[in-house]
Amino acid sequence: MTELNEALSDRSAGEGWSSRTAFILGAIGSAIGIGNVWRFPFVCYENGGGAFLLVYLIALFSAGIPLLLLEMGLGYKTLSGPPRAYGSIKKPLEWLGWLAVLVGFVLVCYYSVIMSWCANYLVFSFDLKWGSDTGTFFNNFLQKSDPKNIFTLGSIVPGILIGLLVMWVWVVLSIWRGAKTVGKVVYVTVTLPWLILIIFVIRGITLPGAIEGLKYYLTPDFSKMLEPKVWMAAYGQVFFSLSVGFGIMTAYASFLPPKSDITNNVFIIALADSATAFVGGIAVFSGIGYLCHTSGVSVNSIQGGPGLAFVTYPAIINQFPFAPQLFGILFFVMLLTLAIDSAFSLLETVVVAVMDKWNISRKTANIGIAAIALLCGIIFTTQSGLFWLDIVDNFNTNFLLIIVGILEAIAIGYVLGPKKIRDCVNETSDFRISAWWDWFIRIIVPLVLFIGLAVTFYKTVTDKQPYGSYPSDAVLIAGWGLLIGLPIIALILTLFKGKKST
Ligand code: PHE
Repeated sequence: MTELNEALSDRSAGEGWSSRTAFILGAIGSAIGIGNVWRFPFVCYENGGGAFLLVYLIALFSAGIPLLLLEMGLGYKTLSGPPRAYGSIKKPLEWLGWLAVLVGFVLVCYYSVIMSWCANYLVFSFDLKWGSDTGTFFNNFLQKSDPKNIFTLGSIVPGILIGLLVMWVWVVLSIWRGAKTVGKVVYVTVTLPWLILIIFVIRGITLPGAIEGLKYYLTPDFSKMLEPKVWMAAYGQVFFSLSVGFGIMTAYASFLPPKSDITNNVFIIALADSATAFVGGIAVFSGIGYLCHTSGVSVNSIQGGPGLAFVTYPAIINQFPFAPQLFGILFFVMLLTLAIDSAFSLLETVVVAVMDKWNISRKTANIGIAAIALLCGIIFTTQSGLFWLDIVDNFNTNFLLIIVGILEAIAIGYVLGPKKIRDCVNETSDFRISAWWDWFIRIIVPLVLFIGLAVTFYKTVTDKQPYGSYPSDAVLIAGWGLLIGLPIIALILTLFKGKKST
């Protein structure tokens, strides 16, 4: 059988998306994650406030949207998850598909652990037993050990492990029958967090001090636009937020029916994701303004990331004039429903990749891969888990993800030829993409990402930031080991015999 026939017979097994809305919600659900709430607002605040929005939009249109179109167009054209899709361009490129899939696999191993923290905090919010200072989160909850003793794992924190198990059951059930099940689940997991976000925006802006917080978030500092680091932050954020580089959109789009409008979908997804991030910032910074107003904390001392979700926001909620428990529950339900569709899109991509290559039933692939990811994730539930998570996350998203992005652009730009994807997409889309896209894929995207990669590499090697507090052996194993190990595993997977040869 030719590759395309094989793909056609695979994809016509009644597994496709039930409607266009289901597909768009699935893709939006993957893109909109906890990053929109705990990452974007702070990246914006630190990099020029309102002026950053402009830089962000440029990054969105010059790299984010072109890559999203690339990944989606490729899945739509080849009816395949990443490995078979790239393999159909040229056999050795299957390796690149596996690399993208593996980067996503590593991400979901620890993303699920962060979801478990949220689940634990959801339970705590019933009686607000969460303390709300950094000590409670790091010492009492995570039972953090000393970073210098990272190799002494200490014990597993039971609550986090139990939460992790629950999260995996939830993820596995959400993709039980692939796109069919996902298409139903996302109606809830996309709309519910939006509704809750709106509640937090209204609650936030009606609190005293909110305006001060919003001023921090949005007052434009145009001089920052001249700083290269601001541009890098924008490209990094766009890339992370749209979930490009993991092959997710390739896997999802491979289940689209013929004659789907790809271009429109890409713009809807990208704009919905950005709008949510912007609104997320309003909710977060109005709350921070209120916290500063009531307890005199200074905005400069507040950080994004986990600190925001598990320390600052609980502190804000404690100060709410009525029903703080209710807001606590809503906040963590919001984070969990934001995260769940990102997590299952990652698992679904691995499942699709494995099913494309081997004759394995969806159920076996689904449960088997989830079980492996769960086992790999256990290290992050130990007392030194936070440190391992930190190292793995840095190398996975700052290096491997960017490398995949560059190679994807080169593979399509120079090996397949971007016009092939563009023609395929244009045939069935309402508005047509013109030749500008080819040049973004050939030149702008690889160049911008390469500069970012080089700067990060230089910083990591010279000032050892941000790994200064860890023993260098740990960084060698979990960081550099990952960087070398994943491409090797991808190679082994490529060399394995697949369906056709059996
Ligand atoms: N886009 C997600 C966010 O903004 C992050 C993510 C990327 C999650 C890829 C899953 C897969 O939070």
